[in-house]
Amino acid sequence: MTKKLLLVLNGEAVWPPPVWLMRQAGRYLPEYRALRAEAGDFLKLCLTPALAAEITLQPLRRFGMDAAILFSDLPIVSLGLGQALRYAEGEGPVLPPIRTAADLDMLSLDRVAEIVSPVWETVRRVAADIGDATLIGFSGSPFTVACYMVEGHGSREFAAARLMAYREPELFARLIELIVQGNLIYLRGQADAGAEVLMLFDSWAGMLPPGEFRRWVIEPTARIAQALRQSHPQVKLIGFPRLAGSMLGEYALGAGMDGVAIDTSMNPAIAATMVPPGIALQGNLDPLALVAGGVALQEGAGKILDALRGRPHIFNLGHGIVPQTPPEHVGALMELIRAA
Ligand code: CP3
Repeated sequence: MTKKLLLVLNGEAVWPPPVWLMRQAGRYLPEYRALRAEAGDFLKLCLTPALAAEITLQPLRRFGMDAAILFSDLPIVSLGLGQALRYAEGEGPVLPPIRTAADLDMLSLDRVAEIVSPVWETVRRVAADIGDATLIGFSGSPFTVACYMVEGHGSREFAAARLMAYREPELFARLIELIVQGNLIYLRGQADAGAEVLMLFDSWAGMLPPGEFRRWVIEPTARIAQALRQSHPQVKLIGFPRLAGSMLGEYALGAGMDGVAIDTSMNPAIAATMVPPGIALQGNLDPLALVAGGVALQEGAGKILDALRGRPHIFNLGHGIVPQTPPEHVGALMELIRAA
């Protein structure tokens, strides 16, 4: 195992740290926008292996990151479970909301493999073409996927999902379990196709109080980790419990991940005291410091490098790249990390 990113996920400190960026494939790149315009529809882009594989590799061709993240999207597992999915222009995912037991009864695991199989083909193509970089597959964590499935669209509060968890915990637990099982099919297929690392995005985890965080974030994530370790012991796992705050340490101990991604709000030096030294930390530059560039970028990156030097660390942003990011600032960041 010589790839830098895998060494770090194996608990080694590597200097300078490996680097990749959340949402590194996407709208800030003109070459992405060109393929996006050609395909017309975002979902079609995600489910057309030749296009998705090309987009996955675009940022590496330009900037030489240490890892490529599969180009796909978070609610593809919901589509696999039988929930219709479409993208409203500039709005993100839109799904018919799951609110009752009858809604949930319409979903099943039977067709997951068939529906997500184009994504597996994308992984196979990227794996054949990726060279020395590491290939990261991903899905949404059960809680965040459930947020979209119950709400039916993006939201600041996801009140319908969180209220279902309080008012009808058995129903919400059934949905979470279905997403755990759907994710296992989806993620095992990605690992079989050549993904070396799997990342679980829990973008909305930080809305939950501690008890609910344990039940709906840590426990289902741990069940996925345990099952993956049995079937695919070589695959490394990264979890992103965004805005976990005081729950970060408990997540690191309980979720069974090899690496934990930290969001922009987290002080990396404090995160390093909350997360055991054998578990890698990934993060956590403010995406807007990357938009600003110059001193903001240098200082922001420098503080993170200093705080996490000597422990396993994967340099990354604290959330996804935003579309207005100048591509040359990404190049400048790459140089800065490589010269650290
Ligand atoms: O480089 C990469 O990371 C590409 C693969 C990727 C996408 N989405 C592509 C995408 C990944 C890993 C994601 C994760 C994702 N998707 C998350 C978790 C991370 C996070 O940002 O919190 C979430 C919550 C989603 C759901 C989603 N998809 C939203 C809310 C939106 C709309 C907002 C936006 O950024 O446009 C999407 C659409 C989406 N996913 C786009 C891309 C490139 C833009 C679609 C377009 O081209 O119009």
